[in-house]
Amino acid sequence: MQQKPLKFDYQSTTPCSGRVLEAMQPYWNEIWGNPSNLQNRFGIHASAAISLARDNLAQCLHVSPERIIFTSGATEANNLALIGHARVRAIEEGRPGHVITMSTEHHAVLDPLKQLKNEGFRITELNPGSDGILSLKELEDAFEHDTFLVSIMLANNEIGVIQPLQKISILCQDRGILLHSDAAQAFGNLPINLDTLGIDLLTISSHKIYGPKGIGALVNRGNVPLQPLIWGGGQEKGMRAGTLPVPLVIGFSKASEIAIKDLDQNNKRLSFLRNKLWNELSNQVSDLRINGCLKNRLPHNLNFTIGGIIGSRLHKFLKPLIVCSSSSACSNGSPSHVLMAIGRNPKEAESSLRLSLGRETTINDIEKAVTVIAKVVRELRS
Ligand SMILES: Cc1ncc(COP(=O)(O)O)c(C=O)c1O
Repeated sequence: MQQKPLKFDYQSTTPCSGRVLEAMQPYWNEIWGNPSNLQNRFGIHASAAISLARDNLAQCLHVSPERIIFTSGATEANNLALIGHARVRAIEEGRPGHVITMSTEHHAVLDPLKQLKNEGFRITELNPGSDGILSLKELEDAFEHDTFLVSIMLANNEIGVIQPLQKISILCQDRGILLHSDAAQAFGNLPINLDTLGIDLLTISSHKIYGPKGIGALVNRGNVPLQPLIWGGGQEKGMRAGTLPVPLVIGFSKASEIAIKDLDQNNKRLSFLRNKLWNELSNQVSDLRINGCLKNRLPHNLNFTIGGIIGSRLHKFLKPLIVCSSSSACSNGSPSHVLMAIGRNPKEAESSLRLSLGRETTINDIEKAVTVIAKVVRELRS
């Protein structure tokens, strides 16, 4: 009998947890009212459920509930933060200005910034060091007289490295510059306090934390002026029109509550398993190089380059045995822009693996993954 492949791709997405599904269940066909329609009790009931879910999510983030704008996910939240604020700013100032980001951001940040470039804004993409971390000195040198926004992700989706957001925010605040952070990978996996980190706009997503797909949020801590991207019925205080998907909002809120409650315990377990995976792989396979620093890293991420093999063959051989990623789930098959930015060449980027662990990962999975990868590399090198 053919064995199921080992699952090591939890940064791409996660399965919806049983407790989340249970919380969502009544909102499909029992409490099915439109939360924007308060003229009947179904609508009132749905609206009350949304309020409770919003309060619950706000508590997880230590912000007040009115700061949360529900969106369809992190992509939309990033678009709303970046394009939404930049357009307001250009109207206020009478001209576009300057925005700073990193070349290792997700395309959900890089592409809206490309759109802003088309609209006349100047965008600086800073490269990290070989450890994947932004140099504060480089950031300081990149500020220009009209820089109004910096967008730096909290944790990277490919190499898992955690950026020094608190220090970055101090540099921004000193100059009156706003800070946006895409925390799609960090929320639910790292403790986040927006006040302490000094983040004005924060992007989060539900499907990375065992919640449903199709829902996320932009947290507007600083009440930053934004121009909506979607116009219609005035929902989300006019910032994001459209009937709220009640079951998804409920599921997202529940998933957040569970993730935050179990965060310390999960992180300890995951970093133990991840370190075991890395140590055993390093013992059994020669010429492995970690991508990004190991220390400031998400507990469930491992990304490394395997020397002396052809990447396409590695992925072909591993495909039936282990579900993992050569790059981010959203890339189009070209070598990872993140790995290239930290100094890997295209060939090295292609012979790299991102292994991401999840709640279901067991010590047995780790041992099997080490055996599988070591065997495949041996075959490819022989
Ligand atoms: C860092 C980061 N930002 C944004 C996204 C897009 O998130 P969503 O699928 O919620 O739009 C992802 C998903 O892979 C991500 O990892």
